[in-house]
Amino acid sequence: MNITNDIVTAYLHQFYHPQSETLAELRSLAEADRVPVILRETELYLNTLLSLIRPKKILEIGTAIGYSALYYAEKCPDAEIYTIEKDETAYSAARHNIAVSGKETQIHTLFGDGQTQIEALRDQQISGFDFVFIDAAKSHYKRFLDAALSVCAEGAVIVSDNILQKAMTASDSYDPQHKHKTNIRRMREYLTYITSDPTLETSLLSVGDGIAVTIYRGEYGARTF
Ligand SMILES: C[S@@+](CC[C@H](N)C(=O)[O-])C[C@H]1O[C@@H](n2cnc3c(N)ncnc32)[C@H](O)[C@@H]1O
Repeated sequence: MNITNDIVTAYLHQFYHPQSETLAELRSLAEADRVPVILRETELYLNTLLSLIRPKKILEIGTAIGYSALYYAEKCPDAEIYTIEKDETAYSAARHNIAVSGKETQIHTLFGDGQTQIEALRDQQISGFDFVFIDAAKSHYKRFLDAALSVCAEGAVIVSDNILQKAMTASDSYDPQHKHKTNIRRMREYLTYITSDPTLETSLLSVGDGIAVTIYRGEYGARTF
């Protein structure tokens, strides 16, 4: 189910314009193969956000076939991008799509678990990320975020996707069989964490499948905006 009215969603889709033919084709391919990629309305929101932030170093957890990484590369041509994927088939598809687009110098693809790969980046002293996109296993957002903060610059913006999980986060009634109990509980805990920790400032938005936009205030929460 959509978290917003279907008529409103369809209406908003009229205003969506893909960044390029390549991305339009990749989105069609993903939709045909049922690979979940960022929703059109989420991309519409990210367009403006990225124009405001103008990130130089982007970290993504959850590459899938590389759609969003390629979107970031096109939208932010000056940014260096690191994207992490733990599924081998998806990782290979992403590497192929990125190579075909000629973006393999701009986009670093990392294979493995999000947290483990971020810790490896930290050990190699690769840090200073100013934009993070969390879009992988929904019950692990807290450990992805905590790892990401260790390589983020003060003032970094972190976007967490699918926080409403087709409205299930908001109400158990959307999960009548209790199939998603753990994901729901953990996402609720995550939202409490990112809206109450003094080092973070977060807005929760019902865009797409729900997104959280968080600013990292720095280790001691000292920075004010
Ligand atoms: C929703 S898809 C990502 C979509 C992509 N960001 C896009 O918009 O084009 C989520 C991906 O996260 C990957 N994933 C799940 N758990 C992960 C983990 N622990 N570490 C890294 N990737 C993970 C899945 O294999 C899947 O391909």
